[in-house]
Order: sequence, then structure tokens, then C-alpha cells
Amino acid sequence: MADINPENIFNQVISSSKYKFVYPPLIERIILGSLKKFKKEKDVIKAVKSKLHQIYGAYTESFSISKFESLIAKILEETNLEQRKTLINELFLQHSSSKERVNLYPDFYSKIFDLMGFTPGSVLDLACGLNGFSVDFLPNDCKTKFTGVEIDSFLVEKTNRYFEKHHSRSKLLQGDIFENVKQNGEISEFDAVFLLKTLPCIEQQEKGISQKLIDNLNCRVIVVSYPAKSLTGKEKGMVSNYTGFQKSLHFSGETVSFLMDNELFFIMKRE
Ligand SMILES: C[S@@+](CC[C@H](N)C(=O)[O-])C[C@H]1O[C@@H](n2cnc3c(N)ncnc32)[C@H](O)[C@@H]1O
Repeated sequence: MADINPENIFNQVISSSKYKFVYPPLIERIILGSLKKFKKEKDVIKAVKSKLHQIYGAYTESFSISKFESLIAKILEETNLEQRKTLINELFLQHSSSKERVNLYPDFYSKIFDLMGFTPGSVLDLACGLNGFSVDFLPNDCKTKFTGVEIDSFLVEKTNRYFEKHHSRSKLLQGDIFENVKQNGEISEFDAVFLLKTLPCIEQQEKGISQKLIDNLNCRVIVVSYPAKSLTGKEKGMVSNYTGFQKSLHFSGETVSFLMDNELFFIMKRE
């Protein structure tokens, strides 16, 4: 390990245009993990980039900064809600997770809140991607305050500009879910926590982390979802695999499951 310089590895990874927006402490965490597995610097760099692609880059392959900037400019100026939703639907196409959900958004929250049994006053969305922009799709009279956490500084900055303009009580924070879990910090100030397609992504970073996260969430309801198809559109038994994974999680409360389009949902209600 003598010839390995972690700082050099960090600088090489962050200098790539693909990863320049990623939360630096997350990159450091992934480097530390890879240093335990590989002895040569080039192998560590390869492993770190491959992990970052798996947990981040793969979701934004069709992302275009110029298209995003131009849509955001229009979204900020648009005061007509229905026209703004049309623009936001275009924006959703820039992240594969929200792209797969575009057809669901019109009824998304009414269906989920219905099954939750109440309208939450506050929602925390962990690893939210572009989902902050779905606040415009909340049912008309609902005043839910949305807080999101994401590693991508570009998405955090743009979503916050949208919130400042149209939903001033909501906010996105740049952060790594693992920081909360490792500090054993209980999250109790939110009515509901959303983990939309998040658990498979964090399990790729550390096996068993989902259970620790669930244990830290002291909210009334946790909404978990999983993709029913892979990013390339193949089913590959994903519904049965993720149903098995979800069942393996320890949780004391009632869980309701349903499939909407290409997404498998579990609403976990605390007793
Ligand atoms: C599968 S996508 C889900 C996005 C969003 N929840 C949705 O369903 O639309 C995973 C997202 O998690 C983010 N991410 C990955 N690891 C993270 C971590 N440790 N902490 C916070 N966000 C993370 C990625 O940048 C990516 O946007």
C-alpha cells in the first residue's frame, strides 16, 4: 500500500466531468472502502469509478446540462401550474429514476397518501434524485413540506432554486445517507420518509445498510420502492427478488405493497 496516495486518487476521480458534482465525503468513503480491497493505485481508481457509475452515473447517462438549464429557466418563470408540470415532466426525463415514473406522477401522491391513511405535513426523501420537482404534483390543498437529501450538488442547487421560487418551505440538502446511519442519528422530525429506489443503491455501497437505516427512522410511515425492471428494461425476476429483500427487513408495523407501472412499492406503517 506504500505507493498509494489517497489524495491523488481523490483528485483524479473528482477531475472527471462525470463525477465533479458528487458530494466529496461520499467519494472519500468509497475510496477508503476500495483501499481495503486493492493494492495498486490504478485498481483503486478503477474500482471507485466503477462504484460511482453503479450508484450515480448510470442514472444520469442521458443528462444534458444545457437542456437542464434551459428547462429550469422556464420552470422558474412559469406561474401556470399545469404548464409548469409539462416542463417538469421533460425535466424528469433527465434522470432514469424519475423518467420511469413520469406516467405515475399525476396520481402518485394521492394514491400513496391514501394508502398511508393521512396526508403528511412533512416528508424526507433520501437519495431523492429529481423527485423534489414532484412537489408540483401534490394534491391541490396539501401543504406538505418536502426535504430531500442527494449527493449531486448540481441537482441540489437547481432544486433549491425551484423551491425558493415556487415552494419556499421545501429544501434539498447535499449529503450522504451513510453519515446519518454511522452517527446513529435517529430521524424523528418527519411524518414520512421516502426511500424511492434507494435501498438497492445503498446496499451496493454496503450490505446490510438498509436495515440500519430503517432502524434509525422514527417516523410514522416509510415509503420504500424498488424498480420492477432493470435500467435496460429487463424484468430479470426483480419483483420477486425485491419482495424477498423487503421481507427480510425487520420492522414492527403493518406493510402494504402494490405495483404501479414499473415500480414496486411498500408502505411501512409503524405500530
Ligand atoms: C436509484 S436513484 C433514485 C432517485 C430517486 N429516489 C427516485 O426514485 O427518483 C439513486 C439516487 O441516489 C443518489 N445516491 C446514491 N448514493 C447516495 C447516498 N449514499 N446518499 C445520498 N444519495 C445517494 C444518486 O445520486 C441517485 O440520484
